[in-house]
Amino acid sequence: TPRVFSGIQPSGDLHLGNYLGALKRFADAQDQGIQSIYCMVDLHAITVPQKPEDLKRSTRELCAGFIASGIDPQKSILINQSQVPEHAQLAWIFNCVARMGWMGRMTQWKDKAGKNAEAASLGLFAYPALMAADILVYHATHVPVGEDQKQHLELTRDIAAKFNHDYGVDFFPLTEPVIEGAATRVMSLRDGSKKMSKSDPSDASRINLSDDADTIAKKIRKAKTDPDALPSEAKGLEARPEARNLVNIYAALSDQSVEQVLSEVGGQQFGTFKPLLAELAVTKMSPITSEMTRLMADPAEIDRILAHGAAQAREITAPILRKTYEIVGMVG
Ligand code: TYM
Repeated sequence: TPRVFSGIQPSGDLHLGNYLGALKRFADAQDQGIQSIYCMVDLHAITVPQKPEDLKRSTRELCAGFIASGIDPQKSILINQSQVPEHAQLAWIFNCVARMGWMGRMTQWKDKAGKNAEAASLGLFAYPALMAADILVYHATHVPVGEDQKQHLELTRDIAAKFNHDYGVDFFPLTEPVIEGAATRVMSLRDGSKKMSKSDPSDASRINLSDDADTIAKKIRKAKTDPDALPSEAKGLEARPEARNLVNIYAALSDQSVEQVLSEVGGQQFGTFKPLLAELAVTKMSPITSEMTRLMADPAEIDRILAHGAAQAREITAPILRKTYEIVGMVG
């Protein structure tokens, strides 16, 4: 039976890349009636320094972001990672299955640790093994994510396969990444060769879910583009990363294909297209922003939702962890 799992780090503001690459697509699985678990990965967030108060606020804000994006806590399971201890427990087992060499090849590790890997936390290095545990402690089969998580999901399959092979079992499923739609890799508004990211020092490079309508319009107006008009076919975007990014964003926000969008806006100058895009972005995002603000006014209710989610999650994770321990040979 299919089961969906995905996670987002509660570190800093959510941005348009998180929304289009992940959040917006999560509600789809839920609405198709597939059992879905969505997770705020606070244990992942602390692989780099976090102020305790900020981590708490970001976790609750992310929970509000999930709900405002259409995740219904009555239909899906909404959890905070550290409240379901089986994630960290299975991660330890996977730390002993995964190989140092595999982890060292992760591009995200190389990017984040940079030249000074000696000073990076051990948790940052082991990050993908915890991610594999997040998914496999539910025997999840499908994981909707943005393009940047693809390598981590391949590693998740490698860990599952090695565990099954080493212990001679067919226990953990090989998970399918679900990387779909027009906006699996939303790029920076200032540089079409870099992905939109919360760690970019320039706030103008991204649209935050917390930005007001004026800020969104201004950032889109100032977005880097080239001087040409929009093409009428997708192949005309190939060597134009900034133009392609804005069209992809338009397509994802309006639930259309790139071809459909270009048949509508092909031939337009950016002076015409950007205001259309800004209006669309504000129309789609401001209801989410205001719903998040409304939910954040009652943090106790958010905490109740997370406590309820954790209890539901543990009904799935506890038996899977128990069975894993038994396979590994732990007494108890
Ligand atoms: P995180 O918190 O960096 O990002 C959350 C989700 O947003 C997607 N995303 C993007 N999509 C399109 N364009 C972008 N510019 C962009 N930036 C981010 C990410 O691909 C992701 O889907 N390691 C994960 C969190 C995680 C997880 C998991 C995910 C932990 N355990 C288990 C899936 C399953 C991360 O850091 O995502």
